[in-house]
Amino acid sequence: MVIISHSFKETLKFGKAIAKHLKPADIICLSGELGSGKTVLAKGIASGLGIKTSKITSSSFVLIREHLEGRLPFYHFDLYRLKEARDISTLGYENYLSGDGVSVIEWGEKLKYLTPKEHLKVELSYHGKFKRTLKFYAQGARFKDLLREIRESRTFQKFKQNKKKVRGE
Ligand SMILES: Nc1ncnc2c1ncn2[C@@H]1O[C@H](COP(=O)(O)OP(=O)(O)O)[C@@H](O)[C@H]1O
Ligand SMILES: [Mg+2]
Repeated sequence: MVIISHSFKETLKFGKAIAKHLKPADIICLSGELGSGKTVLAKGIASGLGIKTSKITSSSFVLIREHLEGRLPFYHFDLYRLKEARDISTLGYENYLSGDGVSVIEWGEKLKYLTPKEHLKVELSYHGKFKRTLKFYAQGARFKDLLREIRESRTFQKFKQNKKKVRGE
């Protein structure tokens, strides 16, 4: 599935819509260059779980942050500064991934051989000041189901309708 976002707010909205379908131990890996909107999408997901978007930040030296005040525990990974995949193994990261919460991993591609077999991947790319594309890929049965649910959700269906309208004009 490919989605085009035209604003910061729209990406937040997509994140919120995704959050509705999340269950414990779900993993979402976000990849894409700096400024492509990974943190914005993470904020949207957090917000959909009932966590204030202002709590979700990036550009720090902290690789994993826990946010426990939402519908599900939310583990926000930002691996920008991770040099070697194995450097994360000392942090007990597997406990987060297989635990009771949702993990959203910015720069997920840096996990390399430690990448969880099953996950939802979102590749974001930058197309000018406000336009971003979000490409979704599901690995494993749980995430194929999740992606189907997301695709069929109101927010994403509405997006499809709008696209048709634009095309028809
Ligand atoms: N459609 C959009 N979706 C997400 N962010 C957008 C969009 N348009 C502009 N932006 C801006 O792009 C930047 C994305 O930053 P951020 O989410 O921190 O990127 P990343 O985490 O991928 O480095 C923000 O400053 C945001 O306001
Ligand atoms: Mg970021």
